Amino acid sequence: MHDGETLMAAAERSGYRWPTVCGGLAECGTCAVRIVGAAPDGLPPPAAPEADRLATLPDRKLHPDAGFRLACQLRPAAVDGLVVHKKGVRPAR
Ligand code: FES
Repeated sequence: MHDGETLMAAAERSGYRWPTVCGGLAECGTCAVRIVGAAPDGLPPPAAPEADRLATLPDRKLHPDAGFRLACQLRPAAVDGLVVHKKGVRPAR
């Protein structure tokens, strides 16, 4: 993972297609991912655009403690221990 790179950008650079409608502008919520595990030092908190969009996600309303983040906004400092769950991520062709 490159410094400052989003989770979605890293996945795309690695050859995966990550679901998106807005192209990474924190507008659609399509890229939302559930964090299953994170590094001991955790993840950076969501900035205002991400937090605003996360507040509107239907899945997050149903499961407020499930740890959803936007892959187009999340910039983990390290990926050791980072485990995410996301439907629809596929190898790009
Ligand atoms: S790609 Fe649209 S909110 Fe992340």
